[in-house]
Amino acid sequence: MSLIRSPELAPEGEERINWVARHMPVLQELERTLAPRQPFRGLRIAICLHLEAKTAYLAKVLQRCGAEVAITASNPLSTQDAVAAALAASGIEVFAWHGATGEEYWEHLRRTAATAPHLVIDDGGDLITLLHREFPELLAGIRGGAEETTTGLLRLRALAREGRLAFPVIAVNDAHCKYLFDNRYGTGQSVWDGIMRTTNLLISGKMVVVAGFGWCGRGIAQRARGLGARVIVTEVEPVRALEAAMEGFEVMPMEEAASRGDILVTATGCAQVIREEHLARLKDGALLANAGHFDVEIDKQALARLARPTGRPRRNIEEYTFPEGKKVFLLAEGRLVNLAAGDGHPAEIMDLSFALQLLALDYLRRQEQPLPREVLPLPRELDRQVASLKLHSLGVKIDRLTPQQERYLNNT
Ligand code: ADE
Repeated sequence: MSLIRSPELAPEGEERINWVARHMPVLQELERTLAPRQPFRGLRIAICLHLEAKTAYLAKVLQRCGAEVAITASNPLSTQDAVAAALAASGIEVFAWHGATGEEYWEHLRRTAATAPHLVIDDGGDLITLLHREFPELLAGIRGGAEETTTGLLRLRALAREGRLAFPVIAVNDAHCKYLFDNRYGTGQSVWDGIMRTTNLLISGKMVVVAGFGWCGRGIAQRARGLGARVIVTEVEPVRALEAAMEGFEVMPMEEAASRGDILVTATGCAQVIREEHLARLKDGALLANAGHFDVEIDKQALARLARPTGRPRRNIEEYTFPEGKKVFLLAEGRLVNLAAGDGHPAEIMDLSFALQLLALDYLRRQEQPLPREVLPLPRELDRQVASLKLHSLGVKIDRLTPQQERYLNNT
């Protein structure tokens, strides 16, 4: 039995799912070829992803390929109740509602885990770590998992290093068709979409500080520049910092950047990136947003110590006033701004990421010999399959090597 908030919203959710599905041609094509063969018949799949329309389309494709699907949300603020209702109405078990408390969030994950899945998709590692912590009796029945994010992989690799990972996990995040597109162009667009729709303010001419120049950070910085902002990048890793400098961004420590930013966006995957000493230096009117998986990059406890919450000027914006009268504004409670205050990445981008997820599960399902209980790469040919399908859907043709060229390359 599903646990959702507003079953009456199912028709609206259905419309949203149909809209994004229309813009996800790779997943559509995989559905068209796989569904008639019912590859997941007899298998239970548990999903923990941001529960919005693109995710829902993936869940439906898995169901149409024969799986029994249970789904929960990887962040209580990204759940869209209408989408959850539509999935529940189509026979998928859904455990999620928007704004779930911490306790409710974990209860939803527990209910999902308790469906005793054979395959798992996770975003951030919460479901897989919960299975290890609280459901040891189910681990032997799990053939494998697939992880969507950088943050989740960090956690699962730590588990594997301790020798405690109980099943193979495919690092979907590390596939080229994931991080080169989703982390860079997806985050690049959706973070600014979230900030702009939340604030209704101009980006052009603003001083933007981007913390972290990984694939997400560089997408956010590039798009900020494209919108006419002046952009400062902060980094801890010298090679990335050098890349940012050579890309023409100003690079400096957060200590200096904090007092210059009109908008500060964190995308590091680390904790306490904007902390007490930085908050104290912010400009009057500064906007703070986070694009990292967890709401730990902006030190909210420090903000609450230094300043008083003095209102909510708009939905998803909290105003804080410092003793000297300075005001700063925290977007989406410091949670992923693109999902908590937006709809996540564009459909065309999630088309790639979720096609990889589908192929990763299909790969796990096909194995006759058990794979090692490690974090494993997605086979390159599956990455190339997704890229080829996307190119085809875009009407883009590319060259093929001639036999002479192949010989040449093989001999060198
Ligand atoms: N939609 C569903 N999952 C998402 C993710 N991890 N990032 C952005 N948008 C998403």
